[in-house]
Amino acid sequence: MSSLPEPDAITRAAEVLRRGGLVAFPTETVYGLGADAGSRRAVRRLYAVKGRPPEHPVIVHLGDPGELDRWGREIGDDARTLARACWPGPLTLVVRRAPHVIDEVSGGLDTVGLRVPDQPVALALLTAFGGGVAAPSANRFGRVSPTTAADVREDLGDDVDVVLDGGPCRVGVESTIVDCSGPDPVVLRPGGVPAERLADILGRPVPADRSGAGRAPGTLPSHYAPRATVELVTAAALPDRAAAHAVAGRSVGVLALGPPNELPAGVVVLGPPDDVERYAHDLYSHLREADARALDVVLAVAPGEAGIGSAVADRLRRAAGARERARTPEGP
Ligand code: TXA
Ligand code: MG
Repeated sequence: MSSLPEPDAITRAAEVLRRGGLVAFPTETVYGLGADAGSRRAVRRLYAVKGRPPEHPVIVHLGDPGELDRWGREIGDDARTLARACWPGPLTLVVRRAPHVIDEVSGGLDTVGLRVPDQPVALALLTAFGGGVAAPSANRFGRVSPTTAADVREDLGDDVDVVLDGGPCRVGVESTIVDCSGPDPVVLRPGGVPAERLADILGRPVPADRSGAGRAPGTLPSHYAPRATVELVTAAALPDRAAAHAVAGRSVGVLALGPPNELPAGVVVLGPPDDVERYAHDLYSHLREADARALDVVLAVAPGEAGIGSAVADRLRRAAGARERARTPEGP
């Protein structure tokens, strides 16, 4: 169990941000790779280290819900209600951006994604820094998001100036993104705040975006992918698929809720998570474990769509989609 960083470490990390450096820090969802959101140079370096295309906007992390009006404009009642109910917490609000927000942060869009994370180290860093911190997940573009400080170091190595260790992330999958820049809110990415909770707060369901990758450019179908091929299967089909891969000489891992039965010898059971919160919490570490064990295939049974299950199912589809696309000539 890692201990929290000393106050000195937070002060130094805030200083590194001020000088244009990159600081990886824990949030309740996944670790973020932070840069001063007011500095073009710092945000450009962030993109270079991530290997991320410049048209992908990045979330600005704030230390206080009151900063919503400093970073956004023309903020409607729904956005305010959601911020009041969920911040600090795993919710990103997309609102029209204030004039000072730089293009490097918004990817050239007229909007900005904002969130106040619910994690003591993150909040201490944001308070010490005193400004907005642009932070994507602290992994190289397209790879599995980090949920421990060790994951960050393994993926980014010396390219990050400071890694603050806050232990494993509580939620384990990214924030829910709700676009409040139009007439009606739309969920761009399922995440830590379930759709049921959003509906409770607003008194009506918040539909998921159906327009494809256009609105949240980073929510590409091929994302969150380990090196192993991820294949989505039903619980009923699992034993036969595992056997087919094993016969073909492929090493197989299984990711499913609860203990699976009747698996061929040699199949690695990742987990198994016994409830859907645990599934979310451990998802990325299981995908990393599959790579550490050099497995060829991960057979994954997605949980039901209720609660955080929809975020887990979404990430599994994207992890599976990565290889589907790589196999087809027209894939990116
Ligand atoms: O939980 C999280 O949200 C984590 C932690 C570190 O806070 N961050 C995270 O960032 O997942 P990232 O960059 O890996 O994913 C952010 C997503 C991308 O899909 C991006 O396109 C979308 O947010 N996004 C950011 N600003 C946006 C905007 N103005 N309009 C539409 N989508 C936006
Ligand atoms: Mg990410």
